[in-house]
Amino acid sequence: MIDQTRLPTRLSYVSCTTPEQVAVAIRTMVVRGAPAIGVAAAMGVALAAYRSKAPRLPEFVREMESSAALLRSTRPTAVNLFWGIDRVMKKVENAGSVKNAKDAVVREVRAMEDEDVEANKKLGRIGADLIEDGDTVLTQCNAGALATVGYGTALGVVRAAVEEGKLVKVLVPETRPALQGARLTAFELVRDRIACTLISDTAVGHMLSLGRVDKVIVGADRITKDGYVFNKIGTYQEAVLAKRHGVPFYPAAPRSTFDLTKNHDQVIIEERGAAEVFQIRGKRIAPKGVPVANPAFDMTPPDLVSSMITERGLIQAPFDENIPRLMS
Ligand code: MRU
Repeated sequence: MIDQTRLPTRLSYVSCTTPEQVAVAIRTMVVRGAPAIGVAAAMGVALAAYRSKAPRLPEFVREMESSAALLRSTRPTAVNLFWGIDRVMKKVENAGSVKNAKDAVVREVRAMEDEDVEANKKLGRIGADLIEDGDTVLTQCNAGALATVGYGTALGVVRAAVEEGKLVKVLVPETRPALQGARLTAFELVRDRIACTLISDTAVGHMLSLGRVDKVIVGADRITKDGYVFNKIGTYQEAVLAKRHGVPFYPAAPRSTFDLTKNHDQVIIEERGAAEVFQIRGKRIAPKGVPVANPAFDMTPPDLVSSMITERGLIQAPFDENIPRLMS
């Protein structure tokens, strides 16, 4: 996998051959982005299956369960992680023999890889219909090829619109504290020669108030059955400001990001280490001893959402009725 912690200065790769190494890669954000960690975690379970020397199924299943538990503990908010692990574990449980289980698991993760790119391309084309020639799109974090197996969700919509020949410009907030906007989204867009402008997170309201944003399109880490959108910290303030200035706000996400089992008050928002906030790229910027809060995600309520872009079509309000209907 690409080591996302080293971008944009270095494009280097990390090889994982054990589920433990995959767990470290997810926890340390070598790989990040909801669909990417979902498929990576599933591949972590597949590695455990592939390496297992267990002769009989019950022992084999116990080994898989222990690797699945380790991978589940890496990050709490993106539902794709749990979706990916559950999907391969189902194959293990229904296999009948160790050999069948190993084959089925490898087949399943290969299918998940292909399906993710396919879903992104499909939702990209659906979302591209919302974009007009000449639009400026504000995003948040990185919901591009790096955050998925390929193509991207929010940036997939932009890519599809550009492929249709529309002129699209992307406003990229830096996305403190981990700087996924500045480091990753800007990297992808510059590489693909898609027009973009990097802004500080604090410039978002000003840009919206000047009329410099036509649409807000973001990814999502979990969309609950009651229509709340969990995404990178800073998304909620974009949604509030978009509403204030009459700009539509669209989350773009595949089926694997929808959680039909939970309402918004049952979701854990990841709290990451203080160093991400009191340092920038390893350099301390705040006095020693200052208390720090570092919520990695926030929650946007459904009344701020214009519609949701998915590979199954646009989901409109009322979201608590239409999400279960379209996504079951
Ligand atoms: O903490 P991260 O970088 O994993 O958070 C990622 C995001 O919030 C993305 O916007 C989200 O996963 C959508 S990815 C297509």
